[in-house]
Amino acid sequence: MTDKYTQIVSHGLGKDVARRLGLPQPVVLRRYQPGAPLITGPVLVNGDSAGADDLATTLMGWGLDVRRNALPKEKLGAIIMVLDAVQHPEDLGKPVLTVGASLRDLAANARVITVSRVPGSASAPAVAAVRQGVDGLLRSLAKELRSGATANGILLAEGVITTSPSALGALRFFLSGRSAYVDGQFLTVTTNSGTLPDDVEKPLVGKVAVVTGAARGIGAAIARTLYRDGAKVVVVDIPGAGDHLAAVANEVHGTALQLDISRDDAGQRILDHAVERHGRLDIVVHNAGITRDRLLANMDEGRWQSVMAVNIAAQLRINEALLASEHFKDAPRIVSVASTSGIAGNRGQSNYAASKGGVIGMVRATAPLLAAFDGTINAVAPGFIETEMTARMPLAIREAARRLNSLKQGGQPQDVAEAIAFLASDAAGGISGQTLRVCGQQLVGA
Ligand code: NAI
Repeated sequence: MTDKYTQIVSHGLGKDVARRLGLPQPVVLRRYQPGAPLITGPVLVNGDSAGADDLATTLMGWGLDVRRNALPKEKLGAIIMVLDAVQHPEDLGKPVLTVGASLRDLAANARVITVSRVPGSASAPAVAAVRQGVDGLLRSLAKELRSGATANGILLAEGVITTSPSALGALRFFLSGRSAYVDGQFLTVTTNSGTLPDDVEKPLVGKVAVVTGAARGIGAAIARTLYRDGAKVVVVDIPGAGDHLAAVANEVHGTALQLDISRDDAGQRILDHAVERHGRLDIVVHNAGITRDRLLANMDEGRWQSVMAVNIAAQLRINEALLASEHFKDAPRIVSVASTSGIAGNRGQSNYAASKGGVIGMVRATAPLLAAFDGTINAVAPGFIETEMTARMPLAIREAARRLNSLKQGGQPQDVAEAIAFLASDAAGGISGQTLRVCGQQLVGA
């Protein structure tokens, strides 16, 4: 679905009128295109730790135009604030104010990225304070940026270096147009595992991926994106969606499996199909989901149970089958689609929010079970995404939901798909058990 308002106010007369009237001014976001540069313009790497030096050297190796100090009036494509060695809240002032002085020089669709340490792992109060302080800083900064620029953070666990594969993978994701609708969020790198791809444009070559609910909407976008990134894709949907499913399967040169994921044998059917048709299974994306909205006072058992059955019980049962299979042991990836409703709650969606909160809890608890064979599991929580589902919302509610985020617009199915493709890649091997919001920093529960 198109957002005509964003198209009108992003240039020319429309932009002028919106500014004069104080209306929201969304811009057309820079989205990933194969072959396009990772970032346009110089990248300022701020920070004086050894980790900052190492990162700057690595980025130069990527061919980026790296600065260690800003030049006056130079338009910057990105600022990376390396804060991995800060020990006290008083340490923040100098680097933060230096970066603050460069913010007016950010190019449109620029990136600000912090690299710091996980607050919870610090026992000294001052260290915990400054690390947690980065959280408040980053989320505030994201709300101040304009013109499609975003701010996101990478949190390193103790012992994880700034140039570990997943720190670099996350950095590349945040710098690129793949993260266009991710704003004000953190990704935690818990281990130095993971491997960077030989070909950054085809990070999923050799992988076999299954995407549920892929006949339309976000699921179809995920299938197209995994295919674009090199994976062989199996698309799954209910038998009733057969024609649409076949069309998506043809488009991605993959295979279709008509299956209701809430069937008891769904996990085995998925494994059998992938192994028989493609010889292996590396990635499972649990995208299929349904809504049956009602205020809790009016909720009937059918609405409650059907949402729980599809959105969380099916995922739990399929994961059990995957974990028990010898065919899912080679650094496998599971990525589930949650929702910001599962984090912040939503009126009329107690069943849906309970199921999506369930996804977040399930992912956290399943991560250690997959770690034994280098597997990971993560969730992506979309906010307002332009799909057939959101197109059916009443106009006023839709407009409010669409604008109440730092980017003042809804996301595209592609934005959710890009985050999933990154978490499914080998580069994300050090990231597990987490939920990444793809919501433009939605103001609700952000
Ligand atoms: P959609 O309704 O357009 O597509 C969902 C697909 O899942 C459909 O093709 C449907 O046939 C399939 N499906 C439903 N039950 C199934 C079952 N039992 N077995 C197999 N396939 C089944 O939904 P949309 O908007 O593409 O959403 C995809 C996912 O993203 C869902 O999990 C949804 O909850 C989540 N989400 C969507 C948001 C949005 O703004 N559109 C926001 C937050 C989360």
